[in-house]
Amino acid sequence: MKKKHVLLGVTGSIAAYKAAGLVRSFKKEEWDVTVVMTVAATKFVSALTFQTLSQNKVYIEMFDDGEWCPEHIALADRADVLLVAPCTANVIAKLAHGIADDLLSATALACEVPIIIAPAMNEKMLRNSATKENIETLTRRGIEVLGTEKGDLACGYEGDGRLMFLDSIVDRTKEIVGNK
Ligand SMILES: Cc1cc2nc3c(=O)[nH]c(=O)nc-3n(C[C@H](O)[C@H](O)[C@H](O)COP(=O)(O)O)c2cc1C
Repeated sequence: MKKKHVLLGVTGSIAAYKAAGLVRSFKKEEWDVTVVMTVAATKFVSALTFQTLSQNKVYIEMFDDGEWCPEHIALADRADVLLVAPCTANVIAKLAHGIADDLLSATALACEVPIIIAPAMNEKMLRNSATKENIETLTRRGIEVLGTEKGDLACGYEGDGRLMFLDSIVDRTKEIVGNK
């Protein structure tokens, strides 16, 4: 049977390191994992971490290689699901507005498979009307926007905005791909 393939988008959140745990979980489930990082995400975690855990090339730059098929189209075509975890307020805004100015956002726009977003941010960013409206827009379009957890935030505050527990993200992804 063909392995399931998750395209994992990692963005510039302090929770980016948790995406390494997601890669391990999907690999344990015998899924193929390809990671696409934003440039901001590389400030938080090295591509080498994801390359080693996923045993796959990590994609970051849009204008990187000389393949005949643009990378964002090829990546979108290969996946069974696009999971963006953690997803910044910025990437949520870009997806809500169809902006495609980097590899991850362009890939998302070219995706015809289910898209799942796991937001992670400071509570004030999360409850900002702009973020709230962007999440509503994505949900209305059929994109699955997962909830967040309450607790200590990395910025020193306590509140809502932590990345959903990894097991719950993996379970929901499996459910969505299984129902496809
Ligand atoms: C230390 C630090 C932590 C950050 N954590 C978050 C976060 O958890 N969520 C978020 O939306 N933005 C966070 N930001 C802001 C983003 O990194 C910033 O908006 C960046 O432009 C996002 O780029 P990207 O969306 O292309 O990955 C953080 C910034 C810094 C300096």
